[in-house]
Amino acid sequence: MKEPRRIHYLKAMGLTLWQRRIDAKAGRGDESREGAEDAWAVGSETAVAHSDPIDETAPALEARANPEIDWQELQQSVKRCNACGLRAGCTQTVFGVGNPLAELLVIGEAPGADEDRQGEPFVGRAGQLLNGMLLAMGYKREAVFIANIVKCRPPNNRDPKPEEALSCEPYLKRQIELIKPKVILAVGRISAQNLLKTDIAVGKLRGRIHSFGNHGVPLVVTYHPAYLLRSPEQKGKAWQDLQLALSILRGDRV
Ligand code: URA
Repeated sequence: MKEPRRIHYLKAMGLTLWQRRIDAKAGRGDESREGAEDAWAVGSETAVAHSDPIDETAPALEARANPEIDWQELQQSVKRCNACGLRAGCTQTVFGVGNPLAELLVIGEAPGADEDRQGEPFVGRAGQLLNGMLLAMGYKREAVFIANIVKCRPPNNRDPKPEEALSCEPYLKRQIELIKPKVILAVGRISAQNLLKTDIAVGKLRGRIHSFGNHGVPLVVTYHPAYLLRSPEQKGKAWQDLQLALSILRGDRV
């Protein structure tokens, strides 16, 4: 991405003081990433409210039963899932959106009201800020993959319960296996604590590189965009986290 555009996006986020790190490697493929994304984009699930067939009698747990499930089967499996109580109260499942071969995987908490309506994660105000954060890193939204800890909206936007997160976990794990991201960016407490199996606060988890799963995918924790909307003074720390993720993506770290 050209520097003036990046500065424009940083300004739009209220981050005029943020400085882009100078690329160690010349010609870091920002522009090619932008060019290639059309071929990768999966688009969102376009299900109409309650149009997904729900398997009431046998919860769709193919992701558990068949760890080799492919991307399309996984999508269908999620659509049919009724393994926890959340599906009964939401409009549709929210599988995730973006490039299924993305090098950067963003994982949030759960769909909210807007996401539940549109079938796509991070489409509300927090989503707008997330888009700005990604652009500041040099990624269009379509070039990364965006998912959540749970695929169904919890009622009244409450936090997903531990058992709901556990029930949905095989789907997310299989998404991670298939995407093979270079970096996972966990945004917010629910995401970070569920992925890292800890109850340590985000403020203590951020700022360093964690490792996820058997393959040791590098994982960086940062604040949730919704929190940043309420606490804009924390955006500087979030930018440090994004730069940490970028340093891994660029191969600056081993
Ligand atoms: N917040 C999240 O964590 N995920 C969404 O999809 C939307 C808001």
